[in-house]
Amino acid sequence: MKNYENVVIFDHPLIRHKIAILRDERTSMKEFRELVEEITTLMTYESLKDGVLTTEIEVKTPLETCKQMVVADNSVVIVPILRAGLGMVNGIHVLFPSARVGHIGMYRNEETLKPETYYCKLPVGIEEKLVMVVDPMLATGGSACDAIQLLKDKGCKHIKFMAIIGAPEGVSKVAETHPDVDIYVSTLDRCLNENGYILPGLGDAGDRLFGTK
Ligand code: PRP
Ligand code: URA
Repeated sequence: MKNYENVVIFDHPLIRHKIAILRDERTSMKEFRELVEEITTLMTYESLKDGVLTTEIEVKTPLETCKQMVVADNSVVIVPILRAGLGMVNGIHVLFPSARVGHIGMYRNEETLKPETYYCKLPVGIEEKLVMVVDPMLATGGSACDAIQLLKDKGCKHIKFMAIIGAPEGVSKVAETHPDVDIYVSTLDRCLNENGYILPGLGDAGDRLFGTK
């Protein structure tokens, strides 16, 4: 895959370790859910190092008063792509408890692999916030591209996208369709199979998070 200025692929031993367990077909639903949250928190720490609104406050230490920068309340909105994106929400809330949550419901048509949108509910005022769109799997890139476009059509100007596993096809598609959106992927896999599943991947993220099949 070519290098894109708006794409960050994490290459961190802690994340790699957790992803190895996440991929394992023997990993239980509970452990899978916990790992998705933990990986999301690690990614959030890095991906939100810029673009977050901060504000100056005065803090009185035991010795003197000083000015300090803190994250502005309610400055981030998390938008999970249902269903699997829901698994990443708590991983961001740990760091940004005041973040509101919008939901975009999409599923991939199994034959065409094209996303179909079935739900959208976004917090009032989202246009001015930093919007973190989250979905553990970035396969063909169709769902991510459409979700980001939907948010842009609603007036959102500051959007970041975060996925745990990306296929080169999907990462390139989102990077080229939305060059103004920063894309964070914790690991880049080899390719897609004929059914649009990521290889080696981890299977169906929604099914593994919620125990369906
Ligand atoms: C999965 C995944 C993404 C999408 C990725 O969702 O969570 O939303 O597929 O594929 P794409 O990049 O090719 O669009 P799925 O449609 O299986 O729905 P689910 O989350 O309800 O299981
Ligand atoms: N969605 C998933 O859950 N897994 C894949 O490998 C591709 C899309």
